[in-house]
Amino acid sequence: MPLTITFLGHSGFLFSDGENTLVVDPFLTGNVLAKHRPSDITCNYIAVTHGHLDHLGDTIEIAKRNDATVIATFELANYIGSKGVKKTEPANPGGKIMTDFGFVALTPAIHSVSRNEDSLDTPVGLVIRIDGTTVYHMGDTTIFSDMKLIGEIYEPDIVCIPIGDRFTMGPEIATRAAEMVGAKAAIPMHYGTFPALNQTSEKFVPNGIKVQVIEPGESWEYKE
Ligand code: NI
Ligand code: MN
Repeated sequence: MPLTITFLGHSGFLFSDGENTLVVDPFLTGNVLAKHRPSDITCNYIAVTHGHLDHLGDTIEIAKRNDATVIATFELANYIGSKGVKKTEPANPGGKIMTDFGFVALTPAIHSVSRNEDSLDTPVGLVIRIDGTTVYHMGDTTIFSDMKLIGEIYEPDIVCIPIGDRFTMGPEIATRAAEMVGAKAAIPMHYGTFPALNQTSEKFVPNGIKVQVIEPGESWEYKE
C-alpha cells in the first residue's frame, strides 16, 4: 500500500500506511492556512520537533482524544506528559524509538530553544521509517554539514525541508541542504504561513531531486 502524506500546513504532516498514522507538528489552531481542525485528526502516533507553538500546536489535545503516543525530546515529552497525555516516548538526538510502523529517530537541528513552564526543549529533526519509506523531516533548522551524514546513514527517500527564511534557512540554502542529503523527493515546508516568511517555493530548486509541493489539506501518495 502506498504511503499517504497529507500536508497539514506549516511543518505539519500526517503519514499513513493504512494501519498506522503518525502526525508531525500539528499546528492547526491559529494557522490561517490549515484546512484541518484538531478534531479532524485520527492518529496513533504524534512526533513533535520542538516546543515552539507553531510545532507543538494542538499536540496535547489530539493526543488525548486519540490516546496517541507522543514522541519528543526528553524535556518536551515530560512537559506533554504533565499535561495529561498518558503515552509518551522521550528520546534525544541519535536515539531511535521503535513503533508499530517502523521507527522515529531524532537528529540534531540548529534552532532557538523554547520554554514550556519550567522545561526547556532542544529542537530536533526526525527520521521516520514507515511502510518501507524513509522520510527526513528536518524540523526548524539551517543547513549543517552533518546533513550529509544523516543522508548516508538513513538514505531518506523524502525530505521535508523548511524554506521560509528568517526563522529557518531560506530557499537558496535549503536547495543546498536538500542536495547534500540527496533524497528522491523534497517537500518544502515552513513558508507562507506568516507575513515574515517567504511566501513561495520558486527559489527552492535542488538539482536531481523532485520538488513535491503539497498544498495545505492536500495529500500525496508516495510509491517507490
Ligand atoms: Ni521553531
Ligand atoms: Mn517554526
